[in-house]
Amino acid sequence: MTTKVFLNEDEIPRQWYNLAADLPTPLQPPLGPDGNPITPDMLAPVFPMNLIEQEVSTERWIDIPEEILGILYRWRPSPLHRAIHLEKALDTPAKIYYKNEGVSPPGSHKPNTAVAQAWYNKQFGIEKLTTETGAGQWGSALAFACSILGLECKVFMVRISFDQKPFRKIMMQTWGADCIASPSEETNAGREILKKMPDTPGSLGIAISEAVEAAVTDKSGKTRYSLGSVLNHVMLHQTIIGLEAKKQLDKLGVKKVDVVIGCAGGGSNFAGLAFPFVNDKINGAEIEIIPVEPTSCPTMTRAPFAYDHGDIAKMTPLLPMYSLGHDFVPPPIHAGGLRYHGMSPLVSQAIVEGLLKPRAIHQMECYDAAVLFARTEGIIAAPETSHALAATIQEAKKAKEEGKEKTILFNMSGHGLMDLGGYERFFQGALEDYPLPEEEIKKSLEPLKDLPKPSTAKTGKW
Ligand SMILES: Cc1ncc(COP(=O)(O)O)c(C=O)c1O
Repeated sequence: MTTKVFLNEDEIPRQWYNLAADLPTPLQPPLGPDGNPITPDMLAPVFPMNLIEQEVSTERWIDIPEEILGILYRWRPSPLHRAIHLEKALDTPAKIYYKNEGVSPPGSHKPNTAVAQAWYNKQFGIEKLTTETGAGQWGSALAFACSILGLECKVFMVRISFDQKPFRKIMMQTWGADCIASPSEETNAGREILKKMPDTPGSLGIAISEAVEAAVTDKSGKTRYSLGSVLNHVMLHQTIIGLEAKKQLDKLGVKKVDVVIGCAGGGSNFAGLAFPFVNDKINGAEIEIIPVEPTSCPTMTRAPFAYDHGDIAKMTPLLPMYSLGHDFVPPPIHAGGLRYHGMSPLVSQAIVEGLLKPRAIHQMECYDAAVLFARTEGIIAAPETSHALAATIQEAKKAKEEGKEKTILFNMSGHGLMDLGGYERFFQGALEDYPLPEEEIKKSLEPLKDLPKPSTAKTGKW
């Protein structure tokens, strides 16, 4: 039996897929502080115009520049595996496949967009990028991309992860980036937060404010900000994952996938795998598509679809997305990359339309799943990825109960070799489940009351 499929470099997809072209209810525009849709030039101090064009594009297919492919070949196409050892341990009739994005140099899917973003910035004459990072996967991915393309890179790393994951910081340094803990004393946003909450563990919302401020206040005009998830162009760059997976499944003779699963922080690895399958679903295929989040940061399953800022200092435009509120500081669970208050507008609109079925899972079940995966397939997954693993195991067990031979595909978004502190605490019995209390959600949604509301209209087809 073939248990893994590689593609040759000349078989790599040469275009990204843009779901914005096919959403049955169109994406709603980002709004400025006055409540009116923002124009591309308003984003120009933050992003280069070539990426802004991608952000607002509704072209279905967008060519991947050859020079970007030339860098992606360092690890792409990534392998597609069949998890036969996990299937056996679960005694399930389901066939389980996964894309292994942990094979990239920084260890996750994040460099798929980091390389593209650094390349487009360089084309535009930009010399330095600033960004935030949660668990450190995104920061190290951008550090790697900037090092290859000869750009400077500054990373604001959420305090709790900065303390929990010192090796991620060293990876960034090795690739030549400057990494500091957020909130920091270097920005107005950071200083304000430290005054109010000196002991804060930090949050992605705070770190984004700092990174945007650092970019727009640089007087040289040669610095821009780069975001590792949430935005449309990031989802676009990640679709290479799902497009490769389709070719690989085709090689194996797999005609139909029944369930597609990815963990979702800002939505990018999930979207990357799932959007090409969402296209199939829009065109009539029967597929269950599941983004998975932690019960401690239940954006898709318990928060409203609302217009909200992407950051705590309200520097970003208002985006139409599921959101726990821009002031939300999530509990310090170990899946740092899933501790974000918002969700990609493209993923959010697909949820509104009923094309996706989000699910929240407790931390302990996720670690149990990750340990089973390590002891069967051998790979130690990132704590974020463990949420996709837990949902996959739930689905494989369901297939057994129903006696159905389902085909399940999930995204192994990253390895966890820099995240062993979380595993250590799990084995020590020091971790627990933390479903977010209702009062906390109510409190963090307060600031959304006076903001404009997006339409929740849907076609009703799904
Ligand atoms: C390995 C891994 N998976 C998933 C995520 C979640 O991010 P996204 O939803 O953008 O894929 C992260 C974020 O840091 C990550 O590092």
